[in-house]
Amino acid sequence: MKNARAFWDNSAARYAKRPIRDEDAYRRKLAITQEYLRPDSRVLEFGCGTGSTAIIHAPHVKNIVAIDISDQMLEIAERKARDAGVENITFKQGTLGGVELEKAGFDAVLGLNILHLLEDLEATLARVHSLLKPGGVFVSSTVLIGDINFLLRLVIPPMQVLGFAPYVNRFGKQALIDKLTGAGLSIEREWQPGKATVFIVARKGA
Ligand SMILES: C[S@@+](CC[C@H](N)C(=O)[O-])C[C@H]1O[C@@H](n2cnc3c(N)ncnc32)[C@H](O)[C@@H]1O
Repeated sequence: MKNARAFWDNSAARYAKRPIRDEDAYRRKLAITQEYLRPDSRVLEFGCGTGSTAIIHAPHVKNIVAIDISDQMLEIAERKARDAGVENITFKQGTLGGVELEKAGFDAVLGLNILHLLEDLEATLARVHSLLKPGGVFVSSTVLIGDINFLLRLVIPPMQVLGFAPYVNRFGKQALIDKLTGAGLSIEREWQPGKATVFIVARKGA
């Protein structure tokens, strides 16, 4: 975990400058997410990065708690929120398990481009379930390392040894769905913008 923090701190400035890979897919994910948000929604985003998505959703909800392991990511996120005049996001440093959060306190939890980076996916999903209000939704988007081209997968370990890639969890789509349902969430919406990525909205029972 210490390594992850250092890795993402070192990557923050570069990450902030990186263009969105697929603008159309990003816009569609935002639009689908907003179908589940209300002006009185309390939202939690973990692994919020430089805050771009939270800043877009903020005007449509009551408030957002946005957490990230990296101080450097959060520094950029806080600056961007200030520049955008957004005042209803509270940024906190830490992991989902490490930050004190109100149980059953959130209408929506967002985990975007983060699930494949977690060593403790089951524990994270159990925590998501405990933080959602009954009937609340978990919106996630992730790379499916288990479903990417075999040759690309071979490149990951040497990149990790050289410090150019973080830890990655190697689940494929079905394994992820099994873990979500195993955590007590039912799959409400599923969309694959590409073979090795998936966007899922899963709901906690009312
Ligand atoms: C690939 S970036 C995604 C950022 C943002 N969600 C997005 O979609 O652009 C992953 C982010 O998760 C953060 N992160 C990595 N491991 C984490 C963990 N265990 N807990 C919280 N944040 C973590 C990193 O610091 C980084 O900001």
